[in-house]
Amino acid sequence: MRNDISEILISEDELKNIVARLGEEISRDYEGKNLILISVLKGSVIFMADLMRAIKIPCKIDFMAVSSYGSGTKTSGEVKIIKDLTESIEGADVVIVEDILDSGVTLSYLKKLLLARNPASIRICTLLDKPERRKADITADYAGTTIPDAFAVGYGLDYDEKYRNLSFIGVLKPSVYQ
Ligand code: IMP
Ligand code: MG
Repeated sequence: MRNDISEILISEDELKNIVARLGEEISRDYEGKNLILISVLKGSVIFMADLMRAIKIPCKIDFMAVSSYGSGTKTSGEVKIIKDLTESIEGADVVIVEDILDSGVTLSYLKKLLLARNPASIRICTLLDKPERRKADITADYAGTTIPDAFAVGYGLDYDEKYRNLSFIGVLKPSVYQ
């Protein structure tokens, strides 16, 4: 698995620092609020698991699955709901937890959909941001770090459902998908 990676973008230690910082920011901003973290499956599960433990105030969690990608590395522009939330978010302070904000198509669709359910507030927390590739008009309220336009895998991010279990974030060798 390691042989398919050309470069380590974010090491395990760097990931820990990023997640700790985001956890502090969210803990500070949501003190006394009705916080619910919504993880977008499957890419954000590892980030979500670490982030929720870096948050020092009470919070609920829920999961949603949408898809805008097939098994390729470029967005198809289509977003499908595969799994919906289990609870109402009416009146809640929602933070959507995403692995990566790329074209932004997925998150702008999801944000609109969740806003229609009348939460008290809604913000986006993404581990990675690839601003060069943005197509939709959307920005993250909390972002771990910006990465260049390369296909990243590891720490939850996949290529063709693989590499999610790498403990760092790396760049996949183009020879793997070409
Ligand atoms: P967007 O709609 O283009 O912003 O795509 C968001 C989704 O595409 C993410 O939640 C990821 O699942 C996937 N994605 C985008 N870029 C990458 C990448 O570099 N590596 C792995 N998955 C990616
Ligand atoms: Mg994916």
